[in-house]
Amino acid sequence: MSLGQSLRRTYRSLFARIVFVYLVSMIALSTTTTLVAVDQFNQLGREWLQRNEIDMAHHLTRVLQDSLDDGVDAPSTRAAVEQVMTINPALSLYALDTDGTVVGAYGPDRCGLGRRIDRGAIDELLSDMPMLPVYADMPCRGDEGVFSVAPITYGPQQQSGYLMVQLEANTDVSMANIWQTSSISRTLLIAGCVALALTLAVGLALFAFLTRRFSRLTRTVQHFAEGDYRQRSPESIDDEIGRVGRAFNDMAATIEAQVEALHDTDRQRRELIANLSHEFRTPMTSLLGYAKQLDRRPLDDETRSGLDAIRANVERLAQLADQLSQMSRANIAGRPLCPSTFSFAELANDILGKFHPRALEKGIELRVENQAAIAEVSADIELIDHALTNMVDNAITATNTGGTVSIRILEFDDARLKIGVRDTGVGIPEKEIPLISQRFYRTTVGRERGEGTGLGLAIVSEVLKRHESQLVIESKPGKGTCIWFTLPRTILDERSIHPS
Ligand SMILES: Nc1ncnc2c1ncn2[C@@H]1O[C@H](COP(=O)(O)OP(=O)(O)O)[C@@H](O)[C@H]1O
Ligand SMILES: [Mg+2]
Repeated sequence: MSLGQSLRRTYRSLFARIVFVYLVSMIALSTTTTLVAVDQFNQLGREWLQRNEIDMAHHLTRVLQDSLDDGVDAPSTRAAVEQVMTINPALSLYALDTDGTVVGAYGPDRCGLGRRIDRGAIDELLSDMPMLPVYADMPCRGDEGVFSVAPITYGPQQQSGYLMVQLEANTDVSMANIWQTSSISRTLLIAGCVALALTLAVGLALFAFLTRRFSRLTRTVQHFAEGDYRQRSPESIDDEIGRVGRAFNDMAATIEAQVEALHDTDRQRRELIANLSHEFRTPMTSLLGYAKQLDRRPLDDETRSGLDAIRANVERLAQLADQLSQMSRANIAGRPLCPSTFSFAELANDILGKFHPRALEKGIELRVENQAAIAEVSADIELIDHALTNMVDNAITATNTGGTVSIRILEFDDARLKIGVRDTGVGIPEKEIPLISQRFYRTTVGRERGEGTGLGLAIVSEVLKRHESQLVIESKPGKGTCIWFTLPRTILDERSIHPS
């Protein structure tokens, strides 16, 4: 089997499919979990920050309130904020009016003036039991962040408003940054990867165990379907696969018993046919003898033509009885093959030798064309002799004077030889090609000729089936026919030698 074929087979296996679905689900699950975990950790960090610093704006209000009375942009306010910011330079402070509009910005670059902060977020954070984290759009950053807020009054008119402190620094929190600076994240990530690898390994091992049992059961059923009726499943575990295995065993036992019974009936039928056809032969030989005796006497034309018809029909009956007897006695389907390695060219020459007188009489040339380097095959020589004799007989019958019948021996591939019987005879109409190897089928030409029984090629097909081969028929009416098959060069395997 090529690499591509075995890959394709693995891909189509149940195990590969389960593993594929499992891997995809695991990847999807771990990606989603990681994303959710990172987001939740991020939120948790911000929640902690807000929880710890929730009063920061109140504390700062106490420090800044006096200067705020001068106005949000008054030099005293700026000086006071600068003082605060020397303690924590990352802080960004904003003074908001009651609508939430930024009226004073004290961040490092004083941006965000005129921006409006959602009042809902401010009210939520100032409520008795705020649900943390509470986010609001940060005036400078434009994205959401946690904050601390406290009510203030500002300016000479004592306008109400809020002091808002942005609690998160303007630093970018990237995954790479977290990986480099957070030992908790690092430990969690490593633990997650190890857990994932362990789950994958355990899952794959479990699937392999389950599918191996299933594959074993599939193989058993396949071998059974191929004709090895002794195959049984060894399943003993009481689960679904085990139950299928045991149900298969029960079914297999029933089928095996039925097949044995069928073989028995078949054997009896063959014996009956063999005995009957044998019994037919004696009276027919005797009939032919009487016909020959009568033939020697002077007879009028009508009686002679009647006698000829009797002889022709008795000869045909004798031939039929002979073929039937051969077919049942050879017991091709039932008897064990006796394979041996022999030179095919020698066998071909022997067979053509048998037909030499007939070919000479008909004016037909007989030839062996051996084009194979080593024309040795491994087969049951008796059966192959029988099959090839039938084929040459057909070819000679179909060929007229001046024609040629040849046995061709060619290389098929490394393991098999291709053997063909070719003639330059009448050929077979295309429609009849698939039918001629059926039992008792004779072509129109064959029937008109009145000879033959239609059993020859059926026997040949049986013989080839036993050799795991088959007939291939190529023919052109009026031009000729080539009927070929292949045979193995090496010894046949056990199964075909001792069929069940
Ligand atoms: N080489 C061939 N050329 C033409 N017809 C053929 C050839 N071989 C077989 N046939 C036809 O196929 C039919 C079946 O052949 P076969 O099974 O050997 O029966 P039989 O020879 O007893 O008639 C025959 O009627 C015969 O005419
Ligand atoms: Mg024949």
